Amino acid sequence: MPVLVVYASKHGATREIAERIAQTIAAAGQQAQARPVTAAGDLNSYDAVVVGSAVYMGHWQKEATEFIRRNRAVLAGHPVWLFSSGPLGTEPVDAQGQDLTVAAEPKEIAELTAAIHPRGHRVFFGALDPGRLGLGERAIRKLPAARAIMPEGDFRDWAQIEAWARGIAADPALGTGSADRTGTDS
Ligand SMILES: Cc1cc2nc3c(=O)[nH]c(=O)nc-3n(C[C@H](O)[C@H](O)[C@H](O)COP(=O)(O)O)c2cc1C
Repeated sequence: MPVLVVYASKHGATREIAERIAQTIAAAGQQAQARPVTAAGDLNSYDAVVVGSAVYMGHWQKEATEFIRRNRAVLAGHPVWLFSSGPLGTEPVDAQGQDLTVAAEPKEIAELTAAIHPRGHRVFFGALDPGRLGLGERAIRKLPAARAIMPEGDFRDWAQIEAWARGIAADPALGTGSADRTGTDS
């Protein structure tokens, strides 16, 4: 099995991105599977690993960070790609004019990059459905500072996500693939 896509998702948006990445890699001819980071299994069975997490309050989900720290040695020996699902809204820049995908980079990424040297890290826009939020999250959304940066809606750019996944499938580290290795089990 060449590619494992693991994810940490609180409300489902990141899980769906991970599943789309696995499906896109499979459609490009490389077998791929998406799983929660807590059910990753034996990483040595995979040629490459993609790790993704939702971003909350500037941080990756704890289980995703801990997964990388715990598996640091084996991940450092594999081709690894990271992604984050975070910013919301239709504006590409924040109030200071900074690219939101840069401004939203989670605080852990520098440490994780130094630990396992991933081939890349990409921040994707996410999605927010108020109906799925807990009481604490609803309270945070009501704060004046949060209101503008936490609009309701689905801001995921599927074309961008699929293009990134095709780049992974085409990476020489994965070999050539073949039609009989396609399929997902997500
Ligand atoms: C309480 C709360 C805090 C958030 N904090 C951030 C943040 O600091 N940075 C960011 O880019 N996105 C933030 N978001 C947006 C989420 O990361 C985004 O909605 C993500 O796609 C959710 O993924 P999930 O459904 O897999 O949990 C926040 C959302 C909520 C509700």
